[in-house]
Amino acid sequence: MKHLIMNNGLTIPVLGTGTNTFGKENHDFNGKITYDTKELRSAIDLGYRLIDTAIYYRNEAVIGKAVKESGLDRSEFFITSKIPADKEYTKNNDRVIHYVDKSLKELDMKYIDLYLIHFPLESDEDNLRVWRVLETFVERGLIKSIGVSNFNENQLAYLIKHATIKPVINQFQSYPGKHNQALIDFCKANNVIPEAYQSLAKLDAKIKDKLIDIAKPYNKTWSQIILNYQVNEGMIVIPKSHNQQHQQDNINIFDFELTKNDIKLIKSLTNDEQP
Ligand SMILES: NC(=O)c1ccc[n+]([C@@H]2O[C@H](COP(=O)([O-])OP(=O)(O)OC[C@H]3O[C@@H](n4cnc5c(N)ncnc54)[C@H](OP(=O)(O)O)[C@@H]3O)[C@@H](O)[C@H]2O)c1
Repeated sequence: MKHLIMNNGLTIPVLGTGTNTFGKENHDFNGKITYDTKELRSAIDLGYRLIDTAIYYRNEAVIGKAVKESGLDRSEFFITSKIPADKEYTKNNDRVIHYVDKSLKELDMKYIDLYLIHFPLESDEDNLRVWRVLETFVERGLIKSIGVSNFNENQLAYLIKHATIKPVINQFQSYPGKHNQALIDFCKANNVIPEAYQSLAKLDAKIKDKLIDIAKPYNKTWSQIILNYQVNEGMIVIPKSHNQQHQQDNINIFDFELTKNDIKLIKSLTNDEQP
C-alpha cells in the first residue's frame, strides 16, 4: 500500500474502504444495524487498512468490532470518523465533546486517526468553533489528525487562516465527469490532501463506456482506471463494495501506469447534461 504524508507529518494510506452501508440490513444506508462484520473483514483480509466511517453511518461499533476480530494491532489501521454539522451535534461545545467521546466509545478505541467535520456548518465562525473543540482532542492525543468534508474553497480558506491546527484533508465527491478540479487544485496548493468519495457510484453511463474502452489495453476494469487516476492525481480514495471480487479489484490498482494521453482524456471527461 502506498502512503501520503499529511501536513502534520503523519502518514495515511492512499486507498481505504468506505463503509456507509456496512453492517446494515439489506446493505441499506438506513437499514437496521446487524453488527455483521463480513464485508469489512473481507476488506481487511485483502489488505485495506484505512476505514472510513461517520456518526451518521451509525456503524462505528461495527467497525470497532471488525478491527478487533481481525486480530491485527490497532496501530495497523487508519480509522476516520466524522461529526455531523447538525445542531444536535454541534450547537455548543459540550455537544461536540459528548459526540466525539461517543465516537471513541462506539469504536472502542483509545484514539481515532482522523476526525472530520462531515459538512460545513452555517457560518465560518461556527466551523471554527467546532474546529477549536476538535483541536483540544488532538492536544489530548485522542484524535491524531483533523480535517473537513464537503468544504468549498472559501470555507477551507477561512479555516486554514484561523485554525491553530491546519486541516490535513478535505473529503468531497469526485469522479470522472465531476472531478471538482478547482477544489482539488485549491487543496493541493494549500497542502491539504483531497480525498475523493463516490469515485464509482455516481458515474454517468456514457462516461463509464469511455472508461471501459480506456481500460482494455491495460487489462484493467473501469473502476481500477478511476482509482488509479485519482491516486495518481494526489487524492486518497475510499471505494466501498459488498462484493469481494470488487474489493479485490479496487485495491489492485498499483501495478500499472496510465499514459499521459489517457490521464488527459480522463481529466477532460465532463457530464454534459449537468447544469
Ligand atoms: N463525506 C461525505 O459526505 C460522504 C458522502 C458519501 C460517501 N462517503 C464515504 O465514501 C464512501 C464511498 O462512497 P459510496 O459508498 O457512496 O460509493 P462508491 O464507493 O463510489 O461506490 C459504491 C458502489 O459501487 C459499486 N462498486 C464498488 N466497486 C466496484 C467495482 N469494482 N466494480 C463495479 N461496481 C463496484 C458498489 O457495488 P457492489 O457492492 O456490488 O460492489 C456500490 O454500489 C462511503 O462508503 C463513505 O464511507 C462520504
